[in-house]
Amino acid sequence: MCGVIGYTGNMEAAPILLEGLKKLEYRGYDSAGIAVLDKNVISISKVSGRIAHLCEKTDDGKLLHGCIGIGHTRWATHGAPTDTNAHPHMSNDGRFAVVHNGIIENYLMLRDELKAKGYHFESQTDTEVIVHLIDMYDTGDFRKAVMKAASRLQGSYALGVICADDPDKLIAVREYSPLLIGVGIGENYFASDVTAIVPYTRNVIYLDDGQLAEITKENIVVYDCTGKKVPKEINHISWDVQDAEKGGYAHFMLKEIMEQPGAVKAAMTPRMKDGEICWEESGLDSFDVHSVSRIVITACGSAYYAGSAGRYVFEQLCRIPVQVELASELRYSNPIIDGQTLLIVLSQSGETADTIAAMRECMKRGAKSLAIVNVVGSTIAKIADHTVYTWAGPEIAVATTKGYTTQLTVLYLLALWMGRKLGTLDEESYHMLYESIRALPKVIQDALDMNPMIKKLAGKYHDAKALFFIGRNTDYATALEGALKMKEISYLHSEAYAAGELKHGTIALIDDHQPVIALCCNSLLQEKTISNIVEVKARGAEVLAVTCKGNQNILSVADDVLYIPKVEPIFSTVAEIIPLQLLAYYVAEENGCDIDKPKNLAKSVTVE
Ligand code: M6R
Repeated sequence: MCGVIGYTGNMEAAPILLEGLKKLEYRGYDSAGIAVLDKNVISISKVSGRIAHLCEKTDDGKLLHGCIGIGHTRWATHGAPTDTNAHPHMSNDGRFAVVHNGIIENYLMLRDELKAKGYHFESQTDTEVIVHLIDMYDTGDFRKAVMKAASRLQGSYALGVICADDPDKLIAVREYSPLLIGVGIGENYFASDVTAIVPYTRNVIYLDDGQLAEITKENIVVYDCTGKKVPKEINHISWDVQDAEKGGYAHFMLKEIMEQPGAVKAAMTPRMKDGEICWEESGLDSFDVHSVSRIVITACGSAYYAGSAGRYVFEQLCRIPVQVELASELRYSNPIIDGQTLLIVLSQSGETADTIAAMRECMKRGAKSLAIVNVVGSTIAKIADHTVYTWAGPEIAVATTKGYTTQLTVLYLLALWMGRKLGTLDEESYHMLYESIRALPKVIQDALDMNPMIKKLAGKYHDAKALFFIGRNTDYATALEGALKMKEISYLHSEAYAAGELKHGTIALIDDHQPVIALCCNSLLQEKTISNIVEVKARGAEVLAVTCKGNQNILSVADDVLYIPKVEPIFSTVAEIIPLQLLAYYVAEENGCDIDKPKNLAKSVTVE
């Protein structure tokens, strides 16, 4: 939920740290700070508010000198987002400074212990115990002091530490929070995420849990938690700096919406070859699908809604029972899992704490895990039995768009592949569905072409008190994601309902001019949904329908209609979400919201 960065080299560190923090700001944006070390003195600047504020305060970093430093952008957990609670935190004697992403669960106990030893606490954060622990264990060996302190911590952490007495060294430690090392020439970095360092290097080392890296400008040494050196592989990042820039768009979200035809193509291309679906890179090709008696899909937020849409596809094509569970619920539900359960885990970031915990719980009980993840080298990707990457490229906006549609694409391919292997699909249907999936990038592009019309409709709906999203089956899954998009970026109260369920209570909320967004793309259920539209119209609702070309009946019942191209009903979610993403975007724009960084949210939810 926070972003950390560190630099050591021959350049002034502060401007590099600030630029990196701007890239990490999507991870948390309520306060920020940097610490720079020069001539055995650590200087700190930290502020509540955005990185822009920190840039102003430090004159874009020109006021702090030194070629080694650490930085942090915060999403507050312990203590309000104030200047004092912002990171870095310093030891009482000013010799150590620490940045931290994660949560220290035993901080209260450690705080009491440290207070009893005379340490003075400035902040309300859990992080401050770390810097005092390091100080307490310091006997002149910086690395050993950090290692000893880390061994006392329970919870999750990606730590960056500098020491005034050891001025050439950064120490980075990882436990259940993302952290990687950027390998440069005559300079090295650490960061929560590769976007922060990709302007300088594309060579990275992913730290594993329990590992500590000692980083100087010329050298990187990684240790395990027992202090033994561990050899690490250097990975090359293939995407470009521009991929993490806005590229002329007003917001990352709009850029990412528009990138979806390419992203979905990138997700399918390596897997679709001459009519076959192959999973070379994830080792799934040899997976025995006949050993699966049940599928459990788990995830959070939009990824959970992608799973909800995926459920219909798996059940339809594979005739296997599928259960979709919120990870935050599954982890504490004493789940019924056995060796014949295939656990499908969805996560854009691969770092969502609840998803990781649910996954570990199910794997402990014998489930085979298959992760669908975007961020390469992330925790979920590492711990899964099989990982399929979505190849969506970096997603910066807090509201996911291309992350979601690429998850759907991979789910469609998996279900189709599995259905064929299981024999629940005949060859003719397989090839017909294969071609439908191949056509999806074009279908998405056509849906995006409605952009000007949707922008106009946003003007009509932006000041509604509430919005209702309704649909059946796959349309219902889209309604859930459409409502989440709307509420998270425009703050407009939005609810999704299974269309047939309205009359069991919710229809009481429908009165004159209440906007209802009706999803009606699943051609098998169009007439049923039209009946529900008629019901809300009879109570005065204003209906915006999203449907497939050719559905003329809808024109006589809806006030406004958005037509997406005709698409195979079970794969319609990936296309019908496009107008809803754009609608949410333009409603938020009309309402002057901070679209890429909505209030109270963070991109990667690494706390429970
Ligand atoms: O990185 P993940 O896919 O695991 O994230 C899960 C949710 O936190 C995420 O989808 C969240 O709901 C987004 N803000 C939705 O736009």
